[in-house]
Amino acid sequence: MFPLFRLFRRQYRCRELLPDAQDTHCHLVPQVDDGIRSCADGLHLIGEMRACGLRGCICTPHISLRFPHNNPDTLREHFLRFAVQAAAEHPHFRLQLSAEYMLDERFPRLLRGGDLLPWPVPGDSRRHLLVEMPTGFIPAGWTDTLGDILSHGYIPVLAHPERYHRHLGAEDFRRLWQMGIRFQGNIGSLVGLYGAPARELCLRMLREKLYSRWGSDAHHPRAFRKLPLKS
Ligand SMILES: [Fe+2]
Repeated sequence: MFPLFRLFRRQYRCRELLPDAQDTHCHLVPQVDDGIRSCADGLHLIGEMRACGLRGCICTPHISLRFPHNNPDTLREHFLRFAVQAAAEHPHFRLQLSAEYMLDERFPRLLRGGDLLPWPVPGDSRRHLLVEMPTGFIPAGWTDTLGDILSHGYIPVLAHPERYHRHLGAEDFRRLWQMGIRFQGNIGSLVGLYGAPARELCLRMLREKLYSRWGSDAHHPRAFRKLPLKS
């Protein structure tokens, strides 16, 4: 049954939030993190994305201590295997591989090692890196780590900053923006899928034009269907 509350909720046009028709953040590669579990579910998720008018997505599996086997080589292997199957069913849907890096104890070593999966930004040749933090606490020295990313020649893009509302506010993010940090918002935050305080911060950051790009952060086709997105 169609949930009644969706009838009254604001819907955003795909081209309004995602002008290049690409989802910039999703966990579509099967069996590498807490996202999609099977190839069938992955193909289903692409179908949901296409129904909203998307023409591609950037797959951003977690690279963190929680998923110790994930590195650029293992992720490329899983990604390519899935991409072959996806191309058979959705031949015009563009898949790109990047990652969502957790700012944990291991991250500085990965940064120094240099073998990273950048986050592609159309029309911008500078290298970007999509990063996240735990939502329960802010890691010590996190702003220094963001500065280290900049000094290694990457533009840090903090994923879903609105989800850190317990510890950080719009003023903090405005200061980070001035340092050269960029922000990717989760579409679900716009309608409160992560709670009212995250929604409030998200709408404020939207008004202040602090978001560079939006993404679904979808881990499952069901989660994508809940987004306030229409073609
Ligand atoms: Fe994510």
